Amino acid sequence: MNPARFGQAGDPPTSFVVRRVRVIDPNDGTDAVRDLAVLDGHIADPARTRGSEEEIDGDGLVVAPGFCDLHVHLREPGDGGAETIASGARAAARGGFTTICAMPNTTPPLDEPARIRWVLERARGASCRVRVIGSVTVGRAGEQLAELASMADAGAVAFSDDGASIPDARLTRAALAYLRGVGRPLVEHAEEPSLAAGSVMRAGPTAARLGLRGWPVSAELTVIERDIALVAETGAALHVTHLSTAAGLDAIRRARARGLPVTCDVTPHHLALSDEWVGGSRRFSWEEPTGEAAPDPDTAYDGSCRVNPPLASRADALALLDGLRDGVIDAIATDHAPHPPERKLVPFDDAAPGMIGLETALSLGLAAVETGRLELLRLVAALSIRPAEIIGERRSLAIGEPADLVMFDPAARWTVDRDELASDASNTPLAGMELPGVVHLTVADGRITYRR
Ligand code: DOR
Repeated sequence: MNPARFGQAGDPPTSFVVRRVRVIDPNDGTDAVRDLAVLDGHIADPARTRGSEEEIDGDGLVVAPGFCDLHVHLREPGDGGAETIASGARAAARGGFTTICAMPNTTPPLDEPARIRWVLERARGASCRVRVIGSVTVGRAGEQLAELASMADAGAVAFSDDGASIPDARLTRAALAYLRGVGRPLVEHAEEPSLAAGSVMRAGPTAARLGLRGWPVSAELTVIERDIALVAETGAALHVTHLSTAAGLDAIRRARARGLPVTCDVTPHHLALSDEWVGGSRRFSWEEPTGEAAPDPDTAYDGSCRVNPPLASRADALALLDGLRDGVIDAIATDHAPHPPERKLVPFDDAAPGMIGLETALSLGLAAVETGRLELLRLVAALSIRPAEIIGERRSLAIGEPADLVMFDPAARWTVDRDELASDASNTPLAGMELPGVVHLTVADGRITYRR
């Protein structure tokens, strides 16, 4: 990937005019073809430009608010060989993201204010704004609450022990009660360890056929139900991340109907892929399965399909897509989890869980839109303004606002090429596949951070 395509936060503010572009702004439901101008880094009235700005032909392109990813693993501190903050931020910019939230399961974990500040300092000048999610417990050990208020003062936008649930209900209750006062959400990785331990994929017919130990739906559901009960008592905000089951979705739907402050996100891979990919299928969840074909020896047991939570059953993936369409699922978050080949090109049971996602998130969403199962306006909201709201931020394409946007061609095709990715990692089962949606331009805080 050519580094010249990437800009940084410190670059001069940009100016340009895009003619006849489809502008989508979920803030007010705008979906209209018109001119859009950016002057000195701010959205401007296209009728009042200077005439000297670069003109871009917007025919066939979409402009949307910049994307915000609530769930990204940048491997610094401790594992910069897998991904650095800088390379992760470039992958984000190439995917249309202008904000990414870094998860705290680094080495050491982000469990104290100095470490939050270290990441923020190191991210200065990156190709994407980086926000930090702090650990809920000291060392992510699930035993003792970390200094949540001081970490919030240092800039933590939310708290999570992602990679694991907080194992203890009493400690979770204390965390929620405390976070209510701090005014930050608890981001829960819902996985009951006693039900999931030793399991490497979703329990079900595919796991049985492949001879792999599967984790049951109840491993996610029991934690979600526990946390909802604790939210009802404490009034704190809960955000369930990488939701992967229809049962979990139903529980959240009911909690929201009760007026509880519960939000959630889903990853692109839990929507578009299914557990059948572990058996070698490369068909999206909305495509009809080919039946009980024998595992494809070229693609079965591919370690890049191992993720936590595991890829959903096809029925659950389709239910999650329905939940995204009707708005119970607020956001799409990638759980971008870079791992080097030595952690992935190993027997499936031994593969580290996680796949990269920043550069393919929009494409998988657009593939769903092409099936008619999702509106483009809803996809854009789930990638941009809704996740931003969950961390207390906003973005808008209204005149006078700082330019924070992505411009993409929704119909153009590209082939996922491991050597072309901006991420330092390439652990994705999508390599070699042709996907819709090519990002042309990403602008964060008025600066061009990526240009094709
Ligand atoms: O698949 C995953 N990978 N799930 C997690 O919860 C952690 C993540 C990682 O850090 O690699």
